[in-house]
Amino acid sequence: MRKDAGQVFRLEDYRPSDYLIPQTRLTFRLARGATIVVAELTVERRPGTDAGAPLTLDGDGLKLKRLELDGVGNPTHEATPDKLVLTQLPESRSFRVLIETELDPDHNKALMGLYRSNGVYCTQCEPEGFRRITYFLDRPDILSVYQVRIEAPKPEAPLLLSNGNRVAGGDLENDWHFAEWHDPHPKPSYLFALVAGDLGCLRDSFTTMSGRKVELGIHVEHGKEKLAAYAMDALKRSMKWDEDVFGREYDLDVFNIVAVSDFNMGAMENKGLNIFNDKYVLADEATATDADFANIEAIIAHEYFHNWTGNRITCRDWFQLCLKEGLTVFRDHEFSADQRSRGVRRIAEVRTLRGLQFPEDQGPLAHPVRPRRYREINNFYTATVYEKGSEVVRMLRTILGAETFRASMDLYFERHDGQACTIEDFLKVFEDASGRDLSQFGLWYNQSGTPNLTVSPSYEAGILTLDIEQSVPPTPSESRKRAMHIPLAFALIGSSGEELDFSAAEGATVENGVIHVRKRSHKLRFHGVAERPVLSLNRGFSAPITVAMEQRPQDLIFLAGHDSDPFARWQAFNTLQTDALIAAYRLLLGGKEAKYQKDIAQLAGRIATDATLEPAYRALALTLPSETDIARDIGRDIDPDAIFSARSKLAAFIAAANREPFGKLYEELGSLEPFSPDAASAGRRALRNTVLGYLARIDGGADIAARHYNTATNMTDLIAGLGTLAHEHAASSQAGAALADFAARHASMPLALDKLYQIQSTAPGTQALETVRALMRHPAFHIDNPNRVRALLGAFSAGNQTGFHRADGAAYTFFADALLEIDSGNPQLSARLATAFRSWRSLEPVRQEKARQALVSIAAASSVSVDLRDIVERSLA
Ligand code: PHE
Ligand code: ZN
Repeated sequence: MRKDAGQVFRLEDYRPSDYLIPQTRLTFRLARGATIVVAELTVERRPGTDAGAPLTLDGDGLKLKRLELDGVGNPTHEATPDKLVLTQLPESRSFRVLIETELDPDHNKALMGLYRSNGVYCTQCEPEGFRRITYFLDRPDILSVYQVRIEAPKPEAPLLLSNGNRVAGGDLENDWHFAEWHDPHPKPSYLFALVAGDLGCLRDSFTTMSGRKVELGIHVEHGKEKLAAYAMDALKRSMKWDEDVFGREYDLDVFNIVAVSDFNMGAMENKGLNIFNDKYVLADEATATDADFANIEAIIAHEYFHNWTGNRITCRDWFQLCLKEGLTVFRDHEFSADQRSRGVRRIAEVRTLRGLQFPEDQGPLAHPVRPRRYREINNFYTATVYEKGSEVVRMLRTILGAETFRASMDLYFERHDGQACTIEDFLKVFEDASGRDLSQFGLWYNQSGTPNLTVSPSYEAGILTLDIEQSVPPTPSESRKRAMHIPLAFALIGSSGEELDFSAAEGATVENGVIHVRKRSHKLRFHGVAERPVLSLNRGFSAPITVAMEQRPQDLIFLAGHDSDPFARWQAFNTLQTDALIAAYRLLLGGKEAKYQKDIAQLAGRIATDATLEPAYRALALTLPSETDIARDIGRDIDPDAIFSARSKLAAFIAAANREPFGKLYEELGSLEPFSPDAASAGRRALRNTVLGYLARIDGGADIAARHYNTATNMTDLIAGLGTLAHEHAASSQAGAALADFAARHASMPLALDKLYQIQSTAPGTQALETVRALMRHPAFHIDNPNRVRALLGAFSAGNQTGFHRADGAAYTFFADALLEIDSGNPQLSARLATAFRSWRSLEPVRQEKARQALVSIAAASSVSVDLRDIVERSLA
């Protein structure tokens, strides 16, 4: 494990390297215990660098076996496991360096560099894993052409893959064989990949827009080839979509995807050889839920789209991570919107953003979409970089319009293909293509925190006046904020539901249904407005902000029934629910009974049964704000038990008032249709399962949920039945029976058992801690495997508000110990899990103190990784 020297990397310290590595030849001899890597680098002195400059290569825990300079052994150098410095280099502009290192992939539990997963050799190099394979200028602005030779025992590893096209292969002595791969596209080291093992393959092909045939292969465990069919279909749809929508064609003869069972993230976009967490490849109706199918589609697309946004045009340095990630998330969101229902996808995206990014932006881990400093770059693969980064690109499109946006993207690809770029390069393209000045807009990349708009409307004699105030709350190391450019989509809605016109607007630029808020305050006047309108603001969630506006409940009810923008319509009902929940929370804290208005239950009933609305939309509308959503909106002095109670009571209230229509709807939706993973079918299942959640809260609920579980014919319904039983009727005999049945039926299916872990660890209440402790001893649970750990400990800490935030702090202590245990093998994983503490300061004082003590105990432990220490110390700061 790398020790923390407390080193901080800063954006302003960027400096080009003295040397370049135009060509890299790698030879791997894959043998158990001792894998040999020979790297032959063609190094070039950068023009302007003086001949005496040393060549300093990055390493991480490396064992140097041999070093040559221009074919001569043992040149002048200094080597540590983490660094190789060559001095007294030749006068010539270019020279060759040969480096031999020895690795032990079997004992690599950090899952960075070369490791073995389930017997398969694989690599993960982003962001700084290549330096765990060989010494290199391991930074994204060093682009090199790679030629890779892999040698391995044939029986153990019949499959040998790397980036690019396969150029040679054959047998060697002693049952070994080899393959050589050449990738003609210069790439940064983080995109290097190698896979060697014994896997099955699903093959297909895709013919590109210019008529080139590309061989596609998805490599999975033997016997699981059929489970890759949906991923393959998603891949072909992605390839077609990128041609149709962005004019981007694939650029190699082959595209391979490999599914591995030990992986820190979702997937990785290595050039021509994507490596995936198997959770995001394998699916059929019996093993995957509809949510899994949607994730697979999105992640397959995301990694494929990186081929242009990330690989052909890459990042100059890791501060620019959002250049590839925010943009590629935006592209995968657009893909999913086109493949499914745009309105429904948008609501889901916003829920994710608010659930993950808002708490980050509002707590101690807040950072700009493009950070300016980091201690550990692995800790910046965040919702801010990804999700808010995507929203920033979306705002660009809103501001410039779809056509100019596309023209700008064309210019981006044309101007920067083959380069390592910055956010400034990216914004410049949009300025040049549109003729606009985007300097104020650029603050979205550089200023952290969630902006708030306070809007006060008044109407008199045909004139609507909006007083708009913007503020950005202070965040760590940014106490004073500048005013941002916020594109606020809006509509003025008349009493019969139609959009009202206005003759003129003054006080801010208003164009194409968007108010351009640029100052701290605007007094905006709309003239010629026929009646007092109901305001629909931030339609389509045009900006990632919060909006505070007093709106009468009857106006919200009106919007929830009439707004033509699906997001705004959903938002109106969601706001009503949130207001009701917060009011009830306050009553409960004051020792009173929770009270709810009949309106909300009636509206729920109307929406549920409104056949003009898509079932998926109805399901989202009927899903109450989560406990964390409610906590975020309350903001401080949080008592998670009272939030849980307010939410359960509202659900029971809605259920009791709608027993009959919900029951009928549930039956109607239950008529069996053959399974299809498409969005419309998934939407019907989602609605039925949401309604089940309500029915389970009235008399006989346990029986309904048990019947649901017992008659389920796919994983989505099975999990809905199981989750409902385990969460709403935990003490029932039906719950016990279903849990045991599920465990037995899926005993040899780790990805299915993850779903069980997740359900059990998120069962509300203090007893969950004991359940989690017990499950950690389950024979199928392995603390080395990130999927298992996330399903059990990740779900518990981030998804069980009453269980994790037990008032006695016992879960915090337990979790801190577990983090340290995980940290000794996989720092990336422990650091990510530790973000569960990020909102600790908004808890009520007793829990706050217990959480603080847990964080302090981690910081004080004798051996803590850079990754974990960084998260813990920033959380405490
Ligand atoms: N670059 C990957 C993606 O977003 C994520 C990733 C980062 C994977 C770091 C592994 C390690 O597609
Ligand atoms: Zn990505």
